[in-house]
Amino acid sequence: MSATLATASYIGATILFILSLGGLSNPETSRRGNLYGIIGMAIAVLATVFGPRVTPAGYAWIIAAMVIGGSIGLYAARIVKMTQMPELVALMHSLVGLAAVLVGFANYIDPAASAEFQGAEKTIHEVEIYLGILIGAVTFSGSVIAFGKLSARISGKPMLLPGRHWLNLAGLVVVLWFGWRFIQAHSIPEGMLPLAVMTVIALLFGIHMVMAIGGADMPVVVSMLNSYSGWAAAATGFMLSNDLLIVTGALVGSSGAILSYIMCRAMNRRFLAVIAGGFGTEGGKPAAPGAAPAGDVSPIGAAETAELLREAKNVIIVPGYGMAVAQAQHTVYEITKLLRDKGVNVRFGIHPVAGRMPGHMNVLLAEAKVPYDIVLEMDELNEDFPGTDVSMVIGANDIVNPSAQEDPASPIAGMPVLQVWKAKTSIVMKRSMASGYAGVDNPLFYKENNRMLFGDAKKMLDEVLAALKA
Ligand code: TAP
Repeated sequence: MSATLATASYIGATILFILSLGGLSNPETSRRGNLYGIIGMAIAVLATVFGPRVTPAGYAWIIAAMVIGGSIGLYAARIVKMTQMPELVALMHSLVGLAAVLVGFANYIDPAASAEFQGAEKTIHEVEIYLGILIGAVTFSGSVIAFGKLSARISGKPMLLPGRHWLNLAGLVVVLWFGWRFIQAHSIPEGMLPLAVMTVIALLFGIHMVMAIGGADMPVVVSMLNSYSGWAAAATGFMLSNDLLIVTGALVGSSGAILSYIMCRAMNRRFLAVIAGGFGTEGGKPAAPGAAPAGDVSPIGAAETAELLREAKNVIIVPGYGMAVAQAQHTVYEITKLLRDKGVNVRFGIHPVAGRMPGHMNVLLAEAKVPYDIVLEMDELNEDFPGTDVSMVIGANDIVNPSAQEDPASPIAGMPVLQVWKAKTSIVMKRSMASGYAGVDNPLFYKENNRMLFGDAKKMLDEVLAALKA
């Protein structure tokens, strides 16, 4: 393939990636967005493999690597459960980071690559290598720890070393100093020492940074590591003078940063506070498991729930993590369809961090064929709860916790939540009085207009559906 054709293909792939991101911003266009991304990536890989910078001697290696990597990816994607997606994503970010580190070292010790640059260009190239390895190493070790925390192989509690900010600052100073030494080095062996020291410090920093972050902030961390992995790829693009990698890395880096910001806002967390770590250690304590209940709860049965739903004019359903665990989305759809056929106005309220990954609930509801136009964001219908007859919470907890707004001492104080308790009646469907992801007690359960429908969401909804049909 000629250099011109490769460049044209890269531009085509870039446009497809941008269209892909645009498509993914809306459930109705997300399938198309995914398709654009797949086509763009296929073009990018083909244009790189058959481009002017790969000699036919390298084909066997590349094809072998693609077959092995592709098979592992395919297998992982097939077996992973939806609720394990954040873990898989964290693991994949770690691979991007590792690739940036390995490419950086390979590029530095490659005599052909180093002979290509002289004077200022050489310095710029070395800065690219240094930065690429630095960001890559932080991404790699941070993502491995994030994977460990999300899969409960490592405790989700924040690990707070004494003087941790000073430790980080000292690390930064040492990295800057060795960066200077690296650029001053006259030979490859001389440059290897500062590069290796920086890599070790960056790896330790990645571990320290994510270890200091508490469970409830992990989604933001995964999205932030996603952003880092993009910047690591962009730095690798500079190293290899590959325009497509630079653009793609920048797209991933900036979209990850925007997503982190949106999630921080949804959890009322300041981005810097998340990075500094220590969530759950200040401003109140999570309720201990089995803490004394804050009042009496009123249970309700499936038949009575069906009765309330049948008599309602306006219903808002708020799904959460428990709906995903119980795989209850299809029954939710059946109930919605039945109620809508009877003239009930049914809508869904989606919290930005409901479930365990961004867009988790939207994906499940789309899979169950719930129409997009009745699936609304929290901000779009939070004002409507006072005029709602029944708000039905299915396996959600933290995202409907009034203490976020009523108790300044709560660990989730200030987090915007769906105000289900403002409806005439709220029904919470869950198996027990257990707390949710953030580990805090939920005063909603004890409110006068709230009823608890205890049981597995799928089982209880099946019973409600049967009662509605009867
Ligand atoms: P949670 O607060 O985690 O509550 C889920 C509830 O579902 C639990 O209290 C549990 O109670 C119930 N449940 C579990 N299995 C069930 C089943 N089979 N049937 C019925 N109920 C079941 O979930 P949420 O309200 O969706 O809030 C999300 C939380 O996760 C937030 O704290 C958020 O910060 C965090 N988080 C979000 C993400 C993203 S990006 N969305 C990623 C990681 C963490 P029982 O055990 O009593 O049934």
